[in-house]
Order: sequence, then C-alpha cells, then structure tokens
Amino acid sequence: MKKIDLKHGSFLKEMVATTSNLYRLGWDERNGGNISYLLTEEEVRPFLDVNHVIRQIPMIFDASQLIGKYFIVTGSGKYFKNVADDPAANLGVVRVANDGKTLDLLWGLENGAVPTSELPSHFMSHIARLEVDPENRIIMHNHASHLLAMTFTHDLDEKAFTRTLWQMCTECLVVFPEGVSIIPWLVPGTNEIGEATAAKMKETRLVMWPQHGVYGAGKDMDEVFGLIETAEKAAQVYTYVQAQGGVKQTISDENLWKLADAFGVAPRVGYLEEK
Ligand code: 13P
Ligand code: ZN
Repeated sequence: MKKIDLKHGSFLKEMVATTSNLYRLGWDERNGGNISYLLTEEEVRPFLDVNHVIRQIPMIFDASQLIGKYFIVTGSGKYFKNVADDPAANLGVVRVANDGKTLDLLWGLENGAVPTSELPSHFMSHIARLEVDPENRIIMHNHASHLLAMTFTHDLDEKAFTRTLWQMCTECLVVFPEGVSIIPWLVPGTNEIGEATAAKMKETRLVMWPQHGVYGAGKDMDEVFGLIETAEKAAQVYTYVQAQGGVKQTISDENLWKLADAFGVAPRVGYLEEK
C-alpha cells in the first residue's frame, strides 16, 4: 500500500510544534533538551514500511523491556530551533531491535545523526513510568530557566523544594500532587544518571537535575509540556518573590488541603502538615 508522507503524521506535527515552543520559551538553547515519544505500530504503519530498516544504531545499555517498541526521538546535538525547517535531519523514528541493545532506524536522523545522548535516561524512564502508568508515552528533558536557577538557591530537599513550588501558584498542587524529585548532580548521557532518574520516575513525573534542567513524563505532549510549564511558572514566581524581598505570606497547609479536597487530588504523603 502507498505510504502517506510523514509530514502529515500527527506525532511528527506534535514534535515540531513542541520543539518550536520550547525553543521560543528559551528552555532549549543550542542543542539543549530532548524528547522521546512512544508510538504504536498502528500509528507508524500508514507512513513507514516497518520492514525497511535504514540503518542500525547501537545503544550503551540494555533496553530489553522495550523490544519492538517504536519511538520518535530528537537527535543528539540537534537544535530545537531548527526542527521545524528540517524534521528529517533533526528527528528520527526508531524501533528497539530484538537484542534490546540496538535501534532500527526507520525514518529521519539524516546524514548519520544519532538519537539524543540522553537516551539512557529516556528509555529507563519510559520503562519506569510504564510500570506505574501503562498509558505513559512521553519523556521530555529541557533546561527550564527558573527551575534550573532554583537548584542553585533553594534547598535541594525534595519535600522543601516541592512545598515551595506548591506555594507559588495555587494550581501547582493540583497539577503535580505527587511532588518533584531531585537526583544528585551526575554526568549527563550516562547510564548512571539514567538509573537515578528512572528510580525517581516511579514516584513523580517531574525530576530535577541540579544545575542542569528538568525531566518530565506523561501520557501526551500537552500533559508533559503543561507539567513542566506549571513547575517552571512557579519557579519564575519564586524568583520574583525572592527579588521582591522574600515571602511575607503564602498559601497555608490548611488551604492546600482544601484545594486538594476540592480538586480530588492526593498530596504526597507527609508533605503537608496533618489536618
Ligand atoms: P542531546 O543534544 O544529545 O539531546 O543533549 C542535549 C542535552 O540537553 C543534554 O543533557
Ligand atoms: Zn540537558
């Protein structure tokens, strides 16, 4: 059957729109940031011959739990600023091959490009999220400016960091009631940072990489984008609050409980004072 041009594919359009938005927000300077989006074979088939492997790309870790799974990913060293003009040079559709350690390239990553260097963190996070949320499809990493800045000035205790974000915008507790995790500073692109991130992803969809950026996970692009956007907005407000001389009053735990009850969310146990 004749294949449809991938530029008409909704998942490609979402990748292009999202990378452009992220660039516009200033969270993905140069080649900063990366996205991986789990696709079903049914989504890929109208556009690509899944038996035509352009080339194989080795990985530095075992992704056996993802064998046969399809992803559209951003390329390593590629600038989000350039994705819209040339998606095939900056993005790729890959499938985890039967050995669990190789990727079959089915589209894109032209001129010998390879998937993001953060693939260990992405794939390990997909595995971790799928265990707790079978509908999870997206892992996104970027250098959201105010969140990144907060990792220099705020206590890196997860509870304290989460509580500050919850207090900065009334929406925060509703959007990420499970809170935000924080890993130690680690070298990017390694299996070690992948393992640390994935371990946290079992409990929260947001994971901070101190002095680097943030990881987000979710069911679809809007959820992940909205999640990071909300936390980043709270961090921006925190920055203004600090610049204005610090907190004089904030949302009480009593009111945060009222909010949680009104929106039917369960705040991370132990993060709010008991009612
Ligand atoms: P890549 O260009 O390999 O995706 O790396 C960007 C980045 O943000 C590293 O953490
Ligand atoms: Zn990064």
